[in-house]
Amino acid sequence: MQRHSPLARGARAVLFAAVIGWVWSPRLLDGSPVFVDARARSAMPASEALRQPPTLQNTSSRRGVVEVTLTAAPARLPTMPGGPPVNVYAFNGSVPGPTLEANEGDSVIIHFRNELPEPTTVHWHGLHIPASADGSPLSPIAPGKAHDYRFRLASGSAGTYWYHPHPDRRTGFQIAMGLFGGIIVHAPDDPLAAKGVADKLLILSDNRFDSNGAPAFSDPRSIQGSIDLENGREGDVLFVNGQVMPTISIRPGELQRWRIVNASAARIYRVALAGQHLIHVGSDGGLFEHPVEVPDVLVANSERVEVLVRGSGTPGERSLLEDLPYDRYMPQTRPADWARARQILSLRYESDSVTQPVEIPAVLRHVPPPDTSRVRVRRTIVMSQGLIDGKRMDMHRVDIHSRLGATEIWTIQNVVGMDHPFHLHGFHFQIIDRDGVPEPFSSWKDTGNVPKHSSIRILVHFDDYPGKWMYHCHILEHEDEGMMGVLQVR
Ligand code: C2O
Ligand code: CU
Ligand code: CU
Repeated sequence: MQRHSPLARGARAVLFAAVIGWVWSPRLLDGSPVFVDARARSAMPASEALRQPPTLQNTSSRRGVVEVTLTAAPARLPTMPGGPPVNVYAFNGSVPGPTLEANEGDSVIIHFRNELPEPTTVHWHGLHIPASADGSPLSPIAPGKAHDYRFRLASGSAGTYWYHPHPDRRTGFQIAMGLFGGIIVHAPDDPLAAKGVADKLLILSDNRFDSNGAPAFSDPRSIQGSIDLENGREGDVLFVNGQVMPTISIRPGELQRWRIVNASAARIYRVALAGQHLIHVGSDGGLFEHPVEVPDVLVANSERVEVLVRGSGTPGERSLLEDLPYDRYMPQTRPADWARARQILSLRYESDSVTQPVEIPAVLRHVPPPDTSRVRVRRTIVMSQGLIDGKRMDMHRVDIHSRLGATEIWTIQNVVGMDHPFHLHGFHFQIIDRDGVPEPFSSWKDTGNVPKHSSIRILVHFDDYPGKWMYHCHILEHEDEGMMGVLQVR
């Protein structure tokens, strides 16, 4: 498969539009802005309680088996509270899709159906599962077709993951249309669950809408189109589980565990809770060894963080969870309002009776430090704007050959002036250092943000699962334009 440069595609689009006298951008059609209008926003109810997405219903009665049905289909749903229903895509009729919950060691069977008018896949982002179940662009499912995804969840893999479509070039579009959902893998010996700590899933997304409230996409030929291609498509409306500025209530002394997923195409969140520090306890591949107290946490695209929040504020008052400014941008296309903090949700301190405060365990589980003693192979991967090692993705090419059983160090170098979050399918890795600075403690990752003009080194062990795997920038516009490579493990 050949990829055309955006320029060539744009030129063809101009020609096409000139011939038939038609342009597809709603902004150009009726002159209205791409962003949702302010009236729709002020009509929203002040603050609803945060809802948890529905859970996928397990239809198996066999122990250790989770069997579910998942359908991707067009749907009519309001994108904003109180807004009119518009055309979206949804998994089982809901945005976000229902959460897949299972235990370590479970066998999972997903009966998937594609009722979309276009090919799709379901990628189980972050799970260490066979390549045949990865749902990469190599395995599209045609409209009207069904496919069973089958895999077993490894022991030690407890954590927060997510699923999303991954078809060739259409990932950004399909996710923006509403296709994404959470995955929670539970451990039998989870130290926080053992203490009865309440667990909440917070899927962060953003979107932009036309004047009817439908997801809006820029004309690739427009200035906004080239900005979107460069920055990735950011929306002006921020959602948590599809809700705008919801409320979480917490009782005095109560401890809550928030599993935060960044499902945004391009927005990197620097999450902070006004008036209190967060206790950072986990990342992509589950819990750390020790909790770490931090003023804020960076959550790059597709990353997950687990934090503990304590009901320590004044009863009756609120504090805001905010996305603080973070400059991931090229100076030329940095949004004018990038330095503005954005509100994500509000935390309300209830005046209920004080609960018996739960003590935070000092050790959450064992996470070994990166073991580089058996490394035979070292590689350098260079990310530039839209390219990896100077190339666009070709599904018929293999870019990296690795041996099954090998342990490798990859240096991921970002040689341009904006951040690119690097994601590897199928295998968890550990970050050894960032720009030569050793990582302060080890954790399991499947995505590592590589800030502008910097590099990270990761340690990865190909212990299992031969096959072809993708690695790519998780800014969806970059990925769709081919900022992706193919790794073959055998
Ligand atoms: Cu969320 Cu190819 O990944
Ligand atoms: Cu992935
Ligand atoms: Cu990128």
